[in-house]
Amino acid sequence: MSAPAFARLPHPSPVADDVRAAAIADPAFGRVFTDHMVSIRYTEGQGWHDAQVMPRGPLTLDPATAVLHYAQEIFEGLKAYRLDDGSMALFRVEANAARFNASARRMAMAELPEELFIAAVKEAVAADAHWFPPVDGGALYLRPFMFASEVFLGVKPASEYQFLVITSPVGNYFKSSAPAISLWVSEDYTRAAPGGTGAAKCGGNYAASLIAQREAIAKGHDQVVFLDAAEHRWIEELGGMNMFFVFDDGSLVTPPLTGTILPGITRDAIITLAHDAGLTVREEAYAIDQWQADAESGRLTESFACGTAAVVTPVGKVTRGEKSFTIGAGGQGQVTEMLKARLVDIQRGRAADPHGWVTRI
Ligand code: PLP
Ligand code: COI
Repeated sequence: MSAPAFARLPHPSPVADDVRAAAIADPAFGRVFTDHMVSIRYTEGQGWHDAQVMPRGPLTLDPATAVLHYAQEIFEGLKAYRLDDGSMALFRVEANAARFNASARRMAMAELPEELFIAAVKEAVAADAHWFPPVDGGALYLRPFMFASEVFLGVKPASEYQFLVITSPVGNYFKSSAPAISLWVSEDYTRAAPGGTGAAKCGGNYAASLIAQREAIAKGHDQVVFLDAAEHRWIEELGGMNMFFVFDDGSLVTPPLTGTILPGITRDAIITLAHDAGLTVREEAYAIDQWQADAESGRLTESFACGTAAVVTPVGKVTRGEKSFTIGAGGQGQVTEMLKARLVDIQRGRAADPHGWVTRI
């Protein structure tokens, strides 16, 4: 089955220039959307078909659509950047395409050919290239996702899927006024268990995390630290980011990919950039008690979260129950700053791209 060509249906009444300019002047994260979306459908026996770049708008779903009942849904998140020379680029889109299919396999969904995923993302950026927000750290956040669109209530993998890409002009995920984020350690709820879906980017993982995120927000924190399901001892990741720990000898630790955390593309890039800078990175289990002890003794000097939305974000404070501890001086440390600068410079085309991560559009 050959890949379908995209039909291009321009929006008949796109957002007016002055309204768009006001919307992208300070877009924050995930509330502003562009004029178009990409849609491709899959039917068992027929394969992928009906590829369209079309006006963005509501979906009409039968109430018996499978995703509404059994949550067969996966997604990706990546950014397109406007480079200093005016061109546009994607960061590691091949890695997102590959992870999307890894998620599809885990959720028993149809796989999308990687070249079709990449073509769809490029179509989405090209259709709305005038939506790049003119703010520091601004980008077009692309959200490719796929759901079970078959109308059937039997519990089985669906035979029909819809894949979509929507585009959101974004600035910082967190308020940029804060020097670092504050974390809440969830000791009651876990996010993923061995044999579960923790390594897949499926909506269900996020649904399971929200009660803890609500708790964190109610107590004044930004994100939740999830611990392992078996011992409630080992640090796994945050609700939407991977974690790194920096020690006084300059080495780094990050939790290993044992199937219960998302294999972050930023995480992978940070490991590579740390190696390039001559730093040691250990992918090993790190216990919550040890984190507190190391922060209090000064052996641990920095901690940061990383992900597409968060980029690299320093952690200043961690709270467990009634007790809190501070990381370093509570702001951004030197290793965090250096790794963030190296990553962002490559993403924005300001530094050489020795690992071939940047795709110009
Ligand atoms: N972990 C979770 C649970 C996430 O949602 C994300 C964000 O996508 C990450 C980690 C970081 O992944 P990436 O760097 O590929 O964006
Ligand atoms: C991303 O970084 O792309 C995510 O999906 C995480 C979420 C916090 C938006």
